[in-house]
Amino acid sequence: MLKEKIIKELNNFKNENRFRILKTINSNSINLSSNDYIGLGNDSDLIQDFYKNYTHLPLSSSSSRLISGTYPLIDKLERNLENIYKKPALFFNSGFDCNCCVIETFCDSNTLVISDKLNHASIHDGIIHSGATLLRYRHLDLEHLRKILKNNSNKYETILVISETIYSMDGDCVDLKKLIDLKKEFNFLLMIDEAHSFAVHSFGMCYEMDCLEFVDFLTIPLGKGGGSTGSYLICDQIYKDYIINKGRKFIYTTALPPVNIAWNLFILEKMESFSDKRLKLKELTTVSHKLIKKYNMETLSTTHIISIIIGNNSKLDHIVEYLSSKNYFIYGVKEPTVPKGTSRIRIGLSPNLSVENITTFFEELNYAINNVF
Ligand SMILES: Cc1ncc(COP(=O)(O)O)c(C=O)c1O
Repeated sequence: MLKEKIIKELNNFKNENRFRILKTINSNSINLSSNDYIGLGNDSDLIQDFYKNYTHLPLSSSSSRLISGTYPLIDKLERNLENIYKKPALFFNSGFDCNCCVIETFCDSNTLVISDKLNHASIHDGIIHSGATLLRYRHLDLEHLRKILKNNSNKYETILVISETIYSMDGDCVDLKKLIDLKKEFNFLLMIDEAHSFAVHSFGMCYEMDCLEFVDFLTIPLGKGGGSTGSYLICDQIYKDYIINKGRKFIYTTALPPVNIAWNLFILEKMESFSDKRLKLKELTTVSHKLIKKYNMETLSTTHIISIIIGNNSKLDHIVEYLSSKNYFIYGVKEPTVPKGTSRIRIGLSPNLSVENITTFFEELNYAINNVF
């Protein structure tokens, strides 16, 4: 019975051209699907330098943080973070665990969570697990958020508002200042996810805008611009203590190996010195947006993440196929990751690309959009 049900569902995915497969990356292709936004994850000089400084690091921690998994390197990493952000820090094994854990540990049926409609799946799952009431505001529409706050601010014990900084699927960006102004007016708890802005904006946009004191839970997943793995949580000591005592996704999992922690520490110590990489990314972003205008392509992006809306799944497949034949590694994104009818080409820029790569790519993309069906 179960297998029959699954086969039927998978066949539906195939009929709607949204059956997912895992593609192996060809190392010779031009990768426009990377989230290594400032090129830290595969900078061979940096990696060589790292291994010169850190030798013979264990490849397993063999225990959870609460048993013997809080080894000195994690301690040092959290202390360094505290020095930077002027608030306690806690290291998680992944951004998904970190987001989920914060929400399910601090929210319950007495909580109202107000979440941007396009927040990441880890945020949505955390809300569902928590049993909190969920209201969603239109993507980045802070006037809509204000209306929801006005109608609900006296009805709940706790209100948590959640936003990302830069959004992964549209490459658009929250008005952080306006969000903080709303917090000052309505006094809710605020959670911000910096997965797509950390490293691109050095220690992140909240740090850059000097508004850390207003962010109750700052999560910094490291698998994108951070060039690594795991996630930082920056929050008050009382919340940190509570998670150490109650956070199931923090307590009941084996800590990441020392080699990953050492790499995070190494990157963090050098973070401010990567301005060349950030400048290159900025240049490529400007060039890309000029080309999008030139070719009249449809995008909501204002940043280094650029989605070009295609809309039709089958057409998207043909465009991706064409671009692959021209040696570009590029991903098409479809529902349910993005709303139905908005399937798209998602481009993640990185300083590993050249202006020439970008110019030729947009030329080919323009050709494919107009000629490939
Ligand atoms: C906004 C956002 N938050 C959290 C995550 C999850 O982070 P991780 O990959 O470290 O689990 C992702 C993507 O992976 C993301 O895009």
